[in-house]
Amino acid sequence: MTKPFVEWTDELSVGIEEIDEQHKVLVNLINRLFDETIVHQANATVMDEILHELIEYTVIHFAVEESLFRIFHYPGTESHTHHHDELKAQVLDIQKKIKQGEATVNTELLLFLKRWLEHHILYEDKLYGPFLLSQGVKSSWEKKSWLGKIWHRNS
Ligand SMILES: [Fe+2]
Repeated sequence: MTKPFVEWTDELSVGIEEIDEQHKVLVNLINRLFDETIVHQANATVMDEILHELIEYTVIHFAVEESLFRIFHYPGTESHTHHHDELKAQVLDIQKKIKQGEATVNTELLLFLKRWLEHHILYEDKLYGPFLLSQGVKSSWEKKSWLGKIWHRNS
């Protein structure tokens, strides 16, 4: 089997299974976008669908993280949320340009998404892991997550 475009390694774990599983969904969506658009050169409809799903899931995932920050009074809430807002604005802008025919999903965009996700998990998300665990958040599930249940395509 060839190596995936974005590879999940334990180094990316924040120590909380629920969050790790959500990050793995993001990794899979970026890999699907890469496989369909770059490797298989899928049509615009397929590409739009995956990009839409990636953006939708990213927004949900950021909201989950930000809820945890508020519930547990995470000291890094402001700057972390700012990083989320910046990425959301950038990606929505790219999506708009794609719809208007001014941009396309290309290797440059995929590399940007890959690097952003890896960097964000390693240098931002990994900071809240130990904090949330110290506040009583459990590292593993007793039951499968609600987000896994509603997100059929990737669960
Ligand atoms: Fe984050």
